[in-house]
Amino acid sequence: MFTDQEAYSKLKKFVGNFPDTLVVLGSGWNKVLDDIKIIERISYENIFGVKSSVPGHNGELVIGQIGEKRIAFMSGRFHTYEGYGAEEATTPVRVFAKSGIKNLIMTSAVGALNEKYKVGDFVILNDVITILQVLDNPLKGPKFIDMSQVFDGKLRQKAIDVSRKLNIRYREGIYIYYHGPNFESPADKRALRILGADVTGMSMIPEVIVARSLNLRILGLAFVTNLAFVKHDHKEVLREAEKAGKKMKNLILGLIKKING
Ligand code: HPA
Repeated sequence: MFTDQEAYSKLKKFVGNFPDTLVVLGSGWNKVLDDIKIIERISYENIFGVKSSVPGHNGELVIGQIGEKRIAFMSGRFHTYEGYGAEEATTPVRVFAKSGIKNLIMTSAVGALNEKYKVGDFVILNDVITILQVLDNPLKGPKFIDMSQVFDGKLRQKAIDVSRKLNIRYREGIYIYYHGPNFESPADKRALRILGADVTGMSMIPEVIVARSLNLRILGLAFVTNLAFVKHDHKEVLREAEKAGKKMKNLILGLIKKING
């Protein structure tokens, strides 16, 4: 993978004036791009020197136009379970922040740990558990950053307002990172629940830590593709997300309009 500086220079050649909002599309969230006017698509290989290798992730930066605004979308992300260190996996966050983004909307597919949650629920994240990131923190050195309010209060409220208006069933809950690539065992899931998490997924946290260190405004959105204590696989994750594609699209488009309105 290229260094931050190399990636930044490559990106500059493709996109001069970078948008102020970046949406990271996680597993299954790609439908969001279906009806957006696309201005540019750049493969990650051309910016970061590596492809994304996960089914359901395209591995490209997409610059789209929504109303008057240009918005950047990461169609796919780098995960630690692909073999990247947390610092490498968060290269895009640092590079795009240096390029000018201020708002970071992160999406993810998750398994529910909270027994009240249902497949198909959206979760507006209100906190994160970072302790499983302890062996590979993306920050190095004495960066004692504040994590008392990871997700931006105003962005969360906007996500709530848009979900209500669109009649989208949502929860507010806590995300815990699980390294993967194996899914959790039932005992793992019970343990994660005891730690206090509502949902679990294999991304989000390295990016959140870096984005906080760069003072970005962060919104975390998750989509429940499976219940924790039921057998499931990646195809099911994608299938469930596919069914909700239209809602995901409406939620993100509504949110972007609200942020800029
Ligand atoms: N665990 C971890 N990551 C996930 C899950 C899960 O159950 N579902 C979707 N992503």
